[in-house]
Amino acid sequence: METLTFIELAKILISFAVCAPSGHNSQPWKYQISENQIIIEPDFSKHLPVVDSTDRELFISLGCALENMQIAANHYGYSSDYTFDGEKIVVTFSGKGNCAEDTLFASIKNRHTYRGQFSGERISPEKLNFAENQEDVTTAIFHSESAEAQTLSRLIYEGNIIQMSDTAFKNELTQWMRFNKRHVAQTRNGLCYNVLGFPATPKIFGRRIIKMFLKPKSQNKTDMAVNSSASAYCLFSAKENTAANWIKVGKALERFLLNVTASGLAYSFSNQPCEVPELAEQLRSELSVNSYPSVLLRLGYGRKQAKHFAPREEPEVVIIEN
Ligand SMILES: Cc1cc2nc3c(=O)[nH]c(=O)nc-3n(C[C@H](O)[C@H](O)[C@H](O)COP(=O)(O)O)c2cc1C
Repeated sequence: METLTFIELAKILISFAVCAPSGHNSQPWKYQISENQIIIEPDFSKHLPVVDSTDRELFISLGCALENMQIAANHYGYSSDYTFDGEKIVVTFSGKGNCAEDTLFASIKNRHTYRGQFSGERISPEKLNFAENQEDVTTAIFHSESAEAQTLSRLIYEGNIIQMSDTAFKNELTQWMRFNKRHVAQTRNGLCYNVLGFPATPKIFGRRIIKMFLKPKSQNKTDMAVNSSASAYCLFSAKENTAANWIKVGKALERFLLNVTASGLAYSFSNQPCEVPELAEQLRSELSVNSYPSVLLRLGYGRKQAKHFAPREEPEVVIIEN
C-alpha cells in the first residue's frame, strides 16, 4: 500500500463508497478527486421527484456512501473529516496515520438489502447493542411484540394503500425497474428483476406485468408476511429536516447496516411511513418521536442466501475527471 498515489487510493475509496444503498438503487452521486480530497456531489438527474420530493432519501444515500468511504480510508490507514456546504460534501484525508483497523470494513461489500420473508427467529436485544443515538440522529428499536410495532405495521399498510393508488408513484417506480439481463447491463442501476426474484421479460411486457402487481392488495400481502416474520423494526429520525442532518442519518444508517451484516442478521427497508407526509406526522405523534422519521427498517434472520446483488455503475460513470 506504500506505493499508492492519492488518485489510486481515491479510486479504491470510491469503489467502496458506491457499495452504499440508495433509494430505488438510483446511485445519485458523483465523485471528484482533488489533491487530498474527494468531493461527493448529488447527481440530481437521479433524483426521485415523486417518492422523495424533498431529496431527503437522496442525501441519506450520500451519507451512506460517505460512511463507507471513511471506513475504507480508515482501513487503508488514513483519517478523514468532511464538511458540507449545502451543496457538496468535501472529504479531506490526512496523511497516513496510525488508525485502528475498522472491523466494519469487511462488511461493506457483503451488505445487501434482504428481499423476502425472515426466518421468524427472534433477535436477542443484546445482539442489537450497536444501535446508538447521536447528537442529531435518533435510532430506536421496537421489538415485534411491542405496541409500537403494531403501529408501524399499520402505517406500512396505509402507506401501501396511498402509494399503490398513486399513478405518479407507480410510474416512477416502474421507470427504475430493470427487466432482463440486457436491461441491467445497459444501466447498472435500478431495481433488477433477478434481485427482486422475478423472471426476465422483455421490457415492454415487464412494464405491463409489473403494473398489475403494483396494487395495494398485493403489496400489502407481501409486506404483511415480511412484517410478521421480522423480529424488530428500527427507526432512524433526524433532529432537523435539513440536508446536513440527512447526511448524518445516512452515516448512522450505513454503520448500523454494516453492523447488522457483521452480526449475521438481515434487514429490509419499509420506508412508506417516512415517505408519505401525513403518515410521518402520525408516526411522530403515535410513537412520541420528537425528531423527523427518516428511515424505517425491519430486522430478522434471513431464510436464504441472496443469489443476485444490485449492480453498481462503473467508476467512469460516477467519477468526474478534472
Ligand atoms: C433512503 C433509502 C430508502 C429506501 N427505501 C426502500 C423502500 O422503501 N423499500 C425497499 O424495498 N428498499 C428501499 N431501499 C433500499 C434500496 O432499494 C437498495 O438499497 C438498493 O436497491 C440497492 O440494493 P442493496 O441495498 O442490496 O445494495 C432504500 C434505500 C435507501 C438508502
